[in-house]
Amino acid sequence: MLERCGGEGVSPRISEVLAIAVEPWARNQGVGDRLMEEIIRRADMFQVDKLVLHTAVDNLAGQAVFRKHGFVRCGIEKEFYPEGQDALMMQRAMVRMPIRP
Ligand SMILES: CC(C)(COP(=O)(O)OP(=O)(O)OC[C@H]1O[C@@H](n2cnc3c(N)ncnc32)[C@H](O)[C@@H]1OP(=O)(O)O)[C@@H](O)C(=O)NCCC(=O)NCCS
Repeated sequence: MLERCGGEGVSPRISEVLAIAVEPWARNQGVGDRLMEEIIRRADMFQVDKLVLHTAVDNLAGQAVFRKHGFVRCGIEKEFYPEGQDALMMQRAMVRMPIRP
């Protein structure tokens, strides 16, 4: 799930990866990796400038996938989740190739 932050016409265009999930039996086989590729492809298609996300500080599998796709940590949000868990904030700049005339 990818959601645009702010309204239409807001610049820079920032979108948040709200959710990414793979059924437990199918994990660690590269499905998350392919889902991230598709998220980034679509963000590029929608000319997003930056992707952001929150993930639990102890979600090491999630962080491994995000890091692999260029996300870097940019902060901690205390008690972000309903059960009081802290969230790691991560971001990824989108670099688009200039269109040649
Ligand atoms: C996060 C999630 C989508 C990853 O999906 P996946 O199909 O297992 O992802 P992949 O197989 O492409 O990659 C998993 C990576 O995590 C790594 N990993 C798994 N468990 C790990 C752990 N405990 N510590 C560190 N790395 C771990 C794997 O080694 C693999 O990295 P690699 O490709 O460098 O070897 C999946 O674990 C999931 O659905 N989790 C529950 C929902 C969730 O947490 N979503 C993210 C919330 S923001």
